[in-house]
Amino acid sequence: MKKAKFKKKILCIGAGYVGAPSMVMIACKCPDYKVTVVDINPQRIAAWNSDQLPVYEPGLEKIVKKTRGRNLFFSTDIENQIAVNDIIFVCVNTPTKTFGAGAGQAADLQYWEKTARQILEYSQSSKIVIEKSTLPIKTALAMERILTSGKGDITFDVLSNPEFMAEGTAMNDLENPDRVLIGSRETKSGLTAREELVEIYSRWVPAEKIITSNIWSAELSKLVANAFLAQRVSSINSISALCEKADADISEVARAVGTDSRIGSKFLRAGIGFGGSCFKKDILNLVYLCRFYGLPEVADYWESVVKINEYQQDRFIANVLQSMFNTLAGKKICVLGFAFKADTADTRESPAINITRKLLAEHAEMVISDPKALDNAAMDLDDAEGQISYIEDPYRAAVGCHALVIMTDWDLYRKLDYGKIYRSMVKPAFIFDGRNIIEHRKCFEIGFNVFPIGKPPLTRL
Ligand SMILES: NC(=O)c1ccc[n+]([C@@H]2O[C@H](COP(=O)([O-])OP(=O)(O)OC[C@H]3O[C@@H](n4cnc5c(N)ncnc54)[C@H](O)[C@@H]3O)[C@@H](O)[C@H]2O)c1
Repeated sequence: MKKAKFKKKILCIGAGYVGAPSMVMIACKCPDYKVTVVDINPQRIAAWNSDQLPVYEPGLEKIVKKTRGRNLFFSTDIENQIAVNDIIFVCVNTPTKTFGAGAGQAADLQYWEKTARQILEYSQSSKIVIEKSTLPIKTALAMERILTSGKGDITFDVLSNPEFMAEGTAMNDLENPDRVLIGSRETKSGLTAREELVEIYSRWVPAEKIITSNIWSAELSKLVANAFLAQRVSSINSISALCEKADADISEVARAVGTDSRIGSKFLRAGIGFGGSCFKKDILNLVYLCRFYGLPEVADYWESVVKINEYQQDRFIANVLQSMFNTLAGKKICVLGFAFKADTADTRESPAINITRKLLAEHAEMVISDPKALDNAAMDLDDAEGQISYIEDPYRAAVGCHALVIMTDWDLYRKLDYGKIYRSMVKPAFIFDGRNIIEHRKCFEIGFNVFPIGKPPLTRL
């Protein structure tokens, strides 16, 4: 008899920023497992099968090249792949609902439910179904109800295995995670399913970093982790507003506070606020759940994290306007960075979108520069009214501009020759450093009027 080539077969439904990189890592670490990633979007799958991957992450391309065609496959054949795989990760998008009950806060679970129904429809044998998308607590219950609504003797065990990787550092996070969280029902079959998943991660993650829990704790932990991270950003940003009023320096305050080992130094960098597809969506989801469970005070507490994030952007725009003599009409402003953070092309919920729109509303002429995200920027702004140009080279982008606004912490912007840029700009020239990444004093000495966040401005005006 011919020996089976692969020990196990794993499927992931959803080939996005999370599903595909996390499966790439499993394929790399488990060469004896066959890993297939499917998506309803044929362009996305074609891109994963090409040399132009649809997601940019440092280190990703190298591992895709090593594993694709060996034990990693990308396909649009959802029906057959559900039938032949025994372990199914679900990593479809779960955006904020834009319609009906809970609009603007609750998670839109339509893609999720469609997937559950597809799994039920095409399964011919029992499966382990793993939630990797970020979901409201008790979603696994809905999944179980759908999956047990037919097919007699076929059984489904639903696990929660939320993903904690961050875009921009995804491959490193996946290879060396702080923890892997696996939640299951605490029944005999739930615990057996949990062990199957533990076995996969054990290939490269130390045992003490694989945390197991009940399924609801796992679902909730992901929302709470994102809420805590975003809360730190809003906390330091709220203090940056006070620093600006009281002549303190937010970097000095953050350092003094963050060296306390009970607090820690990470996520204490003041700036223009958080973006990305997750933080706002997940906090609003938490807010919605708290209200649903009759906890309005808890809901208000977490909602304030989002409000401070919006306030920080409003403050930034007001500062640009006031500092540039209360008129931006006809002035040319160069946005340095459009991605929501460095090392990704992802612009979802990027503060740069809102800020560019508000500056356009003041009739400024906008030049957008970014090393990776210009295609996404053009899509985000395709309905925006006003004059926008897209120039990747920051030196060319700045020519003839009145101001630079730094929106993304790309390392590249730390190292620019700001003297050369200054010479090509209209005077007086301004820099608004929304990420506090450049050398402010040096730029001031070059001639710029420099406006950091949470620090006294350096200006001759
Ligand atoms: N982006 C992050 O940094 C991050 C981190 C951790 C967790 N998450 C969570 O992971 C989930 C996915 O996020 P993402 O950023 O990868 O989203 P994404 O939009 O990049 O990818 C989701 C993919 O699912 C596909 N899809 C939707 N319905 C489908 C269906 N029925 N069948 C097959 N494919 C389908 C979409 O076409 C899309 O390609 C979300 O719940 C998100 O909250 C995201």
